[in-house]
Amino acid sequence: MPNAAIVGTGFYVPERVVTNHDLAQWMDTSDAWIRERSGIHERRWVEEGTSGAELARRATVMALADAGLEAGALDLIIFGTLNPDYTFPGNGVLLQHALGVGTIGALDVRNQCTGFIYGVAAADGFIQSGVARTVLVVGSEIHSTGLDISTRGRDLAVLFGDGAGAIILQATDERRGVIASSLHSQGKFARELWAELPSALIQGRWHDEQLAEGRQFPRMNGPMVFKHATRRFCEAVEEVLQAGGVTIDEVALVIPHQANQRITDMVARRLRLPDERVYSNIHRYGNTTAASIPIALAEAVREGKLQRGDLLVTVAFGSGFTWGANLIRW
Ligand SMILES: CC(C)(COP(=O)(O)OP(=O)(O)OC[C@H]1O[C@@H](n2cnc3c(N)ncnc32)[C@H](O)[C@@H]1OP(=O)(O)O)[C@@H](O)C(=O)NCCC(=O)NCCS
Repeated sequence: MPNAAIVGTGFYVPERVVTNHDLAQWMDTSDAWIRERSGIHERRWVEEGTSGAELARRATVMALADAGLEAGALDLIIFGTLNPDYTFPGNGVLLQHALGVGTIGALDVRNQCTGFIYGVAAADGFIQSGVARTVLVVGSEIHSTGLDISTRGRDLAVLFGDGAGAIILQATDERRGVIASSLHSQGKFARELWAELPSALIQGRWHDEQLAEGRQFPRMNGPMVFKHATRRFCEAVEEVLQAGGVTIDEVALVIPHQANQRITDMVARRLRLPDERVYSNIHRYGNTTAASIPIALAEAVREGKLQRGDLLVTVAFGSGFTWGANLIRW
């Protein structure tokens, strides 16, 4: 069976920088609070009217150029987002059209912060089974248009940013690529981090009084998410190391989902990883959900943090709850 190697990476973030000081004009918060609790200094937000599929297209163009491929080489799109442009159809088909490629498959992944991990695992399966040879996995998020930018929504609004990251996976006989993945879900915690509306349970999808209560905005039990995330991050890393028959000392770089610097620091401590082997860019972009790992990976590659043959672990936790990891030989 062929291996699924990463042959190109790319990312795109909107130009508009929103600092913690900007947020403090709209809600009762402060730069000091946000930095101390999350490590975030600033994030990027789109101008209203921007499409998540367009952010993804820009990230994809960069990943294709990095791989030395034309868009026509792709035979499958896997698109992770929790913020689709429309309720339906998904962003995958919008990207297929925007790329101007033929009628290739477009699979939408709805696993929130863990979307990229699920997408890579799926791409690996499609490549190993021979269904596809060249697969785009892209994560793209526009959070900013769906946040409650008032004091009522401040616990979540300060954490999230917009952006997109993309990778190209290709079949190879070389000894590199995805080695192992672990995927988990625990739906009993679905309502601890969720956006309730629009809902198919409701005739017309929402009631006006629900909108007045702000139930269309995401809500989160922050301390509970924090507690579960730190535990599940470590478990998922250990699972893929065990599946791959390697130890943490052999891993050159861990790229965690950029949820919160305090979560990253705690996971690094528990795994006994020095700072230089755990990638972080949350201070610049905040939490970009399905886009955070591919953005971080594209930046890490350009900073020379991965050499051919290195072992890389990607790991995420998020709404669902869902969590998982990929072990990859670069
Ligand atoms: C959200 C999070 C940063 C809050 O930090 P915390 O230390 O748990 O803070 P608490 O929720 O206990 O809130 C402490 C106080 O700060 C207040 N607060 C919340 N958001 C605030 C903000 N943006 N600015 C200022 N104060 C804020 C709260 O209202 C609370 O006030 P109170 O004590 O008067 O009630 C933290 O819970 C967290 O990081 N959780 C995980 C979030 C995450 O990663 N989500 C995505 C997962 S993919």
